[in-house]
Amino acid sequence: MTAPIPPDDPAQMHALGALLGEWMPYIQRFWGATIVIKYGGAAMSSRVLQEGFARDVVLLQLVGMRPVIVHGGGPQVTAMMGRLGMDATFVGGHRVTDEETLEVAKMVLVGKVNKDLVGLIHRHGGTAIGLSGEDARLLVTEPIDQRDEAGRPLDIGLVGQVQEVHTEALELLSGSIIPIVASIGADATGQTRNVNADIAAGALAAALKAEMLLMVTDVPGVLSPTEDGESPLEECRLKELDALEAAGCVSGGMIPKVAAVRAALRAGVGSAHIIDGRQEHALLLEVLTDAGCGTRVAV
Ligand SMILES: Nc1ncnc2c1ncn2[C@@H]1O[C@H](COP(=O)(O)OP(=O)(O)OP(=O)(O)O)[C@@H](O)[C@H]1O
Ligand SMILES: [Mg+2]
Repeated sequence: MTAPIPPDDPAQMHALGALLGEWMPYIQRFWGATIVIKYGGAAMSSRVLQEGFARDVVLLQLVGMRPVIVHGGGPQVTAMMGRLGMDATFVGGHRVTDEETLEVAKMVLVGKVNKDLVGLIHRHGGTAIGLSGEDARLLVTEPIDQRDEAGRPLDIGLVGQVQEVHTEALELLSGSIIPIVASIGADATGQTRNVNADIAAGALAAALKAEMLLMVTDVPGVLSPTEDGESPLEECRLKELDALEAAGCVSGGMIPKVAAVRAALRAGVGSAHIIDGRQEHALLLEVLTDAGCGTRVAV
């Protein structure tokens, strides 16, 4: 809990007033707008971070936005696999998924992480509903077309890419209930597939024609090489992100993020943001202030 500002400290009261004033144009601009927030497992590492995230989401809804949350839970799935004596393998940022891995991923993401997030939103005064991509055919998937560096097809098991998005169930909620979506989908035959949560969020943002796609993760943005190492980009165009990827500066979990940003922006989403969920109030800073706190990507 942040300590209250003493009312007899005029400098701090003035700064607080100025900050609230800075929010106003952003509230006016985004009032009624759908914002898809991808909450990465990497940014859920403590209860304090999760509480802060839930509080910020509820506040964004209170000031008129329509948040839709899509969550990952990679570290949580890997931890459960470890407890069960299973090994986790990744290719191109995707978890190689056999039947048993899928069973664990579904239990952890849909049964645990999803419901914990619903409870957190309720604790902070909002109302949420937990869904997976299988509910109401929200995310219809097909086997992912994964390639190796030479362009040859790679079999990574029961991993899906999004083929169709059916948003009717979300429309029924009419903005008053916050949907929280676990990134599990099914194909037309009913076969469940594990979907990378970034890919799910990008597809959902595109289908909902969201104003914004926010990806909350554990890095301060998209890191780009500099003379003394690397630093996060504040703003970039999609083509700069393409160039960064072509130069080999995007790896692991950032690969599906870049793909999701590309899909969302090409479908008309206004902007995509990769932000650091370890920073307190990352969401509020990025959405409601001039400063922001991550990488903002626009077409
Ligand atoms: N250029 C880059 N800039 C920033 N991060 C990068 C870059 N290239 C690779 N990464 C990696 O991407 C990781 C973020 O993706 P990761 O999949 O681990 O987390 P997440 O997507 O937030 O969580 P989850 O997969 O559970 O949803 C970073 O921790 C970093 O190691
Ligand atoms: Mg990831």
